[in-house]
Amino acid sequence: MGGPTMVMIAYKCPQYKVTVVDIDPTRIAQWNSDDLPIYEPGLDEIVKTTRGRNLFFSTEIEQGVKDSEVIFVSVNTPTKTFGAGAGMAADLQYWEKTARQICQCAESPKIIIEKSTLPVRTALAMERILTSNEDGIHFDVLSNPEFLAEGTAIRDLENPDRVLIGSRLTESGLRARDELVEIYANWVPRERIITSDTWSSELSKLAANAFLAQRISSINSISALCEKTDADISAVAKAVGMDSRVGSEFLNASVGFGGSCFKKDILNLVYLCRNYGLNEVADYWESVVQVNEYQKRRFVLNMMTAMFNTLVGKRICLFGFAFKANTGDTRDSPAIFIAKRLIEERAELVITDPKALDNARIDLNGIDSNVSYIEDPYKAASGCHAIAVVTEWELYRDLDFEKIYRSMIKPAFIFDGRNILDHKRLFEIGFNVFPIGKPALTHL
Ligand code: UDX
Repeated sequence: MGGPTMVMIAYKCPQYKVTVVDIDPTRIAQWNSDDLPIYEPGLDEIVKTTRGRNLFFSTEIEQGVKDSEVIFVSVNTPTKTFGAGAGMAADLQYWEKTARQICQCAESPKIIIEKSTLPVRTALAMERILTSNEDGIHFDVLSNPEFLAEGTAIRDLENPDRVLIGSRLTESGLRARDELVEIYANWVPRERIITSDTWSSELSKLAANAFLAQRISSINSISALCEKTDADISAVAKAVGMDSRVGSEFLNASVGFGGSCFKKDILNLVYLCRNYGLNEVADYWESVVQVNEYQKRRFVLNMMTAMFNTLVGKRICLFGFAFKANTGDTRDSPAIFIAKRLIEERAELVITDPKALDNARIDLNGIDSNVSYIEDPYKAASGCHAIAVVTEWELYRDLDFEKIYRSMIKPAFIFDGRNILDHKRLFEIGFNVFPIGKPALTHL
């Protein structure tokens, strides 16, 4: 998130010098090469235009801090894995380390911007650390959460629904806020740049992700009911989404949501609520994560039931491993859970994905003696008993499924965890088809 955001600022504001610093020399070397450390459609071109012009990548953190008037902090804030709040709270050690480092090297006043998603009131803690410097240097801490989604980062940055800036409402806080408004105003229409106090801004980010994830869990919970009643989740989502108060986006039933943000941010929100004794509120949001876990479990159970209650020795092909299309990212991908469960059931797995096979290998490292990784979906599906669509890659829609059917073991199954395929056509070819939240089409 930090990389593409800074790339966009450099691109839209040639009058500013933007330096991206990182402690990891390999990552910086990648940013300085033709092989960028992340895949985002459109990113390569913008980096090519700006790198060396007003965009620089460096490991010289001290120098970067000294030279800059505005510092965006985008370090990671993973879920804590130890001590109090393990599995729930955000691990703020990298953020705090960065704040201390800024404090040590700074020689002039600076505006510090929280870009990472953080628990509410983190800015306050940062302010305390920064103002502890002995030289009396003044820092203004702003919250400027990033709402971009992976795979559409460049589009989202170029044309955001809104830019949110939270500040202290003091004279100096408001001045710092206006400086940041000026940066975004280089390309974002003024009416889409909104401001608030710092805490509301921090909370808005957690709440926005919780609301989005809640929509997916809502539709997924109804998909389970559809499967029992022969209703069709697409018809239900359409009818519900056409109510302008609800809206149609983020109502695609799926095998479950993944990605580095939703689960982490909701658990963070849950932890925050429990901390304040708001247990009912915490339970409410926690259920969004629980329904998501349920949806993943249900998907594998449906596969088992359909395939005569045993998967031992059966060859199953996962179409997709990334947590969504157009990214190689597999963080918290439902594919990881599904693969692990299928391995437990002693199935043989073949995983295919146009971008995520390297990450899949890392995710399944040590448990993948019965797993093969094959980029070509035709080769991957050949000799399999079943295909499970886990990621909604566009390319899966256009495959020659007659050819695939001929190469598979019969009866051949397709479990469409994203409802992206033409189910009727697959059934006509001969497949037994199991969509999400729709009646199965089987020859059995
Ligand atoms: C999300 C937020 O959208 C973004 O605003 C925030 O800044 C970071 O977190 P991201 O994690 O990149 O972005 O992906 P997103 O497109 O939101 O998808 C998250 C997951 O939900 C994916 O696994 C996706 O496949 C799934 N999803 C999405 C569904 O299952 N159904 C839908 O209708 C939409």
